[in-house]
Amino acid sequence: MSNLHFKTTADGSSTLYNPLLDEHYHSIHGALQESLHVFIKMGFVNFSNTFKTAKSVNILEIGFGSGLNCILTYIENLKTQLNVNYTALEPFPLEMDIVENLDFNLNSKQLDIFKLIHGCLWEETVSIQEKFFLQKSQLELDSFNTINLYDIIYFDAFAPMKQPELWTVDVFSKLFNITSINGTLVTYCAKGQVRRDLEHVGYSVERLEGPPGKREMLRATKV
Ligand SMILES: C[S@@+](CC[C@H](N)C(=O)[O-])C[C@H]1O[C@@H](n2cnc3c(N)ncnc32)[C@H](O)[C@@H]1O
Repeated sequence: MSNLHFKTTADGSSTLYNPLLDEHYHSIHGALQESLHVFIKMGFVNFSNTFKTAKSVNILEIGFGSGLNCILTYIENLKTQLNVNYTALEPFPLEMDIVENLDFNLNSKQLDIFKLIHGCLWEETVSIQEKFFLQKSQLELDSFNTINLYDIIYFDAFAPMKQPELWTVDVFSKLFNITSINGTLVTYCAKGQVRRDLEHVGYSVERLEGPPGKREMLRATKV
């Protein structure tokens, strides 16, 4: 993974370019804006607005990568104050010297948490803060087995054209089975085939306004 290249996206935040896949980790129209819109606003904030009496939330992220969705969830939760159980899958963890050079416009307190998130042990549940528990697993989704149910799934895999094996009916069916009732899966991808496959496995799917530079995104709910 050391052949990754740094790029600055349109909102000034960093992303990484993987030349083997010819693919970026985030939207080049704005990594930070994309993550804030797709995963935080349409995923996490939507959950807390919908379930006002909820005390806790189980989140599963497919593709931890730079940890951007994780740190943004942590920051948002300083307002929301849920007990967050955050599980993240990443078969190819980034090296620390790459992480240290990413710029997500974090202040110094947030940067300390970002380092904690990246530096903490894999395969252990770690308390990042009183209300934020993180378990990073160095696993491919295919090898991930759990008895837990997830209220929100951040589906942040590389695009279907680049990693088609992660956008199949079998994968969505596996995710549907571990989504809690009324739980959601959010993804930046709005492809018709992806929407139909999510519906096929049982989700009810909304096409929502996308982040800057992208017309639409998808939110799938297990009703
Ligand atoms: C589009 S990037 C997004 C990463 C991350 N969410 C971020 O904000 O940086 C996709 C991530 O999925 C990871 N990945 C690749 N294959 C995977 C698999 N089979 N299961 C889970 N994650 C995978 C990649 O290594 C990469 O970190």
